[in-house]
Amino acid sequence: MKKKAAIDVCLFPAAGYGTRFLPATKSMPKEMLPILTKPLIQYGVEEAMNAGMNTMAIVTGRGKRAIEDHFDISYELEHQIKGTSKEKMLADIRHIIDKCIFSYTRQIEMKGLGHAILTGKPLIGYQPFAVILADDLCVSESEGVLSQMVTLYEKYQCSIVAIEEIDPQHTDKYGVIAGVEIEPGIFRVSTMVEKPSPADAPTNLAIIGRYILTPDIFDILQQTKPGKGGEIQITDALMEQAREGNVIAYKFSGKRYDCGSIDGYVQATVELYNEMTKK
Ligand code: G1P
Repeated sequence: MKKKAAIDVCLFPAAGYGTRFLPATKSMPKEMLPILTKPLIQYGVEEAMNAGMNTMAIVTGRGKRAIEDHFDISYELEHQIKGTSKEKMLADIRHIIDKCIFSYTRQIEMKGLGHAILTGKPLIGYQPFAVILADDLCVSESEGVLSQMVTLYEKYQCSIVAIEEIDPQHTDKYGVIAGVEIEPGIFRVSTMVEKPSPADAPTNLAIIGRYILTPDIFDILQQTKPGKGGEIQITDALMEQAREGNVIAYKFSGKRYDCGSIDGYVQATVELYNEMTKK
């Protein structure tokens, strides 16, 4: 029997508006924007499956129903293409639907990533869970980024954030950490700041959209006051855990594309296309 994964559930905050992609995102969720033929959120779900998870908890909002439809059977379409050469184009998504359980809840108001995660609490219960921000698309040669983080969780049993070194001028787009390097590329976090100006940033180690969170984060989030931008920030809640030495930051192996920006989106499209046509 396959070893039971340490983490079963992956949460996808997916209520954001995606204003940087207007008008494309006027009536279509930004998570459904495709890189080649696959919507962004499907890459995220595949990464979670690769890490041994099969319960996908998605925090949606108004205008996001296409996500639910995507992870469901489309009888008419499947009937139409059955037996044709096109049938195989649905094989991957069909596999996902067969293997995973999807649950959804709606975030009524946009009050920040911390609030979105807290909104997902009824879908998760009281257990450690992963978080994927689908507009950060991560690719790696072998093991997926989330899978690397689960291995680390098994060792450290605390919250984990994925980080990368960024251009110090861009710290105001990210949560930024500082800490002690306890193994190569692995830090015990002592400080976390949400979107500091370059002058105020403790380092250039930026959090990207992959987290493993221990469930006490929900209790902390319930008490967390609005921070940067008047929003409830997951970074502030994690700082509470970091004070107790309970947050690890991990320089993952692989590459992240910021598909929430047009530059990153185009770069991901071009590089994944080159990869695909190389084979
Ligand atoms: C969020 C987090 C930030 C993190 C980033 C990663 O910001 O608040 O700490 O660095 O995701 O993508 P957002 O990009 O939603 O503004």
